[in-house]
Amino acid sequence: MAEFDRAAEDVGNIVSLEHVNTQIPDQQLATIFYVMGLGLTRDPYQVVGVTNMWINAGRCQFHLPTGKPQVVNGHTAVVMPGRAALLQRLASVAKLLEGTKFAFREANDYVEAICPWGNHIRCFEPAPRFGRMMLGMPYVEINVERGAADGIARFYREVFAVPASVADEPEGRAARARIGTDQALVFRESDGPFPEFDGHHVAVYLADFSGPYRKLVQRKLVTREVNQHEYRVIDIPDLDTGRVLARLEHEVRSMTHPSYARALVNRNTATYSPGNESVSWAMPSQTRPL
Ligand SMILES: [Fe+2]
Repeated sequence: MAEFDRAAEDVGNIVSLEHVNTQIPDQQLATIFYVMGLGLTRDPYQVVGVTNMWINAGRCQFHLPTGKPQVVNGHTAVVMPGRAALLQRLASVAKLLEGTKFAFREANDYVEAICPWGNHIRCFEPAPRFGRMMLGMPYVEINVERGAADGIARFYREVFAVPASVADEPEGRAARARIGTDQALVFRESDGPFPEFDGHHVAVYLADFSGPYRKLVQRKLVTREVNQHEYRVIDIPDLDTGRVLARLEHEVRSMTHPSYARALVNRNTATYSPGNESVSWAMPSQTRPL
């Protein structure tokens, strides 16, 4: 029989989770939180004006257009090294963010920071369960109603063709749709509250772009035809009954989209010295020297 478990290396049809987009009403407060507090880096190449800002986290981004605040009902996970330094940075911006929803707390294996408008960002140190990720967004977690996880996992398996499973975990039952090698969308069953969906979105890239599209069109689930490389989907229904189990706008992009896997600048917050201005999103590989 085969010597290697080839299936253990398979990835699904969603190859990358690239950005989380939430409108925010004040660019300066967002800079204080995301750049000074979290220590992330503003994209210096694109969207550099005063009405929107892209914030790099490894190969991922937060997109923050000016507008009525939007809040992910759940949390966005970020992997970053240096928990003590992160706590210092967050403490240092507390005064500047007084009077907003900003807060932070320490948990066993993460620090949770809340943005001035209530978005929860869970910051983990790099760990084997995040693969080689040193800086990045390993998952976005959405709270859903009790009983919804199985139907959501089925939707991701059958429509988007990704490995998706359901597990009972200490924080509750959850559906996990795997993305690429080390990312996921997580849907966690909880008792709520479940505010009405406010229009925030996540951007994902698909290898088979048209296969899911055909299924989504058939079910009238495509909400916007953006361009040749992108469409949008919001409702995640039970495939038998059509009942909506979760709402999350997916900005669905093809791998031929001009922005796919573009290199992002991430500054080294630990120190400054010429040649060491930036940090890598990944741990060094374990290969032998050439
Ligand atoms: Fe977007």
